[in-house]
Amino acid sequence: MHRFESSLGRIFFFIDCMNSNNNNHDASSNQFVWNEANALWYAEEYGDHISNDLTIKNIELNPNDIILDIGCGTGTAAALASKICHKGKIYGIDPIETMINIALKNIDKALNVEFILGSAERIPLDNKSVDKVIAINSIHHWKDYKKGLLEVNRVLKSDGLFFISNDIVNNEDCGHGTGPLKTNKNIMDKLTNAGFTGIRLQDYILESDGIHIIQSRKV
Ligand SMILES: C[S@@+](CC[C@H](N)C(=O)[O-])C[C@H]1O[C@@H](n2cnc3c(N)ncnc32)[C@H](O)[C@@H]1O
Repeated sequence: MHRFESSLGRIFFFIDCMNSNNNNHDASSNQFVWNEANALWYAEEYGDHISNDLTIKNIELNPNDIILDIGCGTGTAAALASKICHKGKIYGIDPIETMINIALKNIDKALNVEFILGSAERIPLDNKSVDKVIAINSIHHWKDYKKGLLEVNRVLKSDGLFFISNDIVNNEDCGHGTGPLKTNKNIMDKLTNAGFTGIRLQDYILESDGIHIIQSRKV
């Protein structure tokens, strides 16, 4: 396992075997394989990472919004969003049961948040049912980003917004190695190909941490 320290202080881990041949052209990066064990490690080390707070503070959320957080991890962003969208609803999905269990344990039951086992490639929600989709440090982990983008498009209402947020690691990319989503430009091109519009990139920095947010809109 390699340990790689970003210019802004965040540590990313990669698994050697993932850097070898990757025959899946729709895979988002040299993927780190999520399992129950590293979910516990991630929750402990980064579950409440500042990127969640930075994202929720810097995207346009309204009280009535219905939000989907894909790859919600321990549910930090969903809990923060629920305070703003207090008349709406937040769905957090993650394919790792341990993450969902931690998120359920962390959340105040009174909040309007629901955590569901699910993946970007198979979102357990109805067509045109959400106003905004968020993916924080998540898209590089999707098994098939093309399927994921189709799913995001399916569940978003017309004019709905999609926010992809990633830590700033090497200025242009997000520290996930090679792959079709290596740079912001790559991600923005894939969004264009998938039919999203109004695509724009903005960086947000707080002391030694920073995120790129790519915003796009469903037509
Ligand atoms: C780096 S963590 C980020 C967690 C959280 N969004 C955060 O920023 O704290 C990546 C998350 O993506 C999830 N993930 C992995 N494969 C996924 C997929 N195919 N669809 C959706 N989420 C996935 C992982 O289980 C993990 O919780």
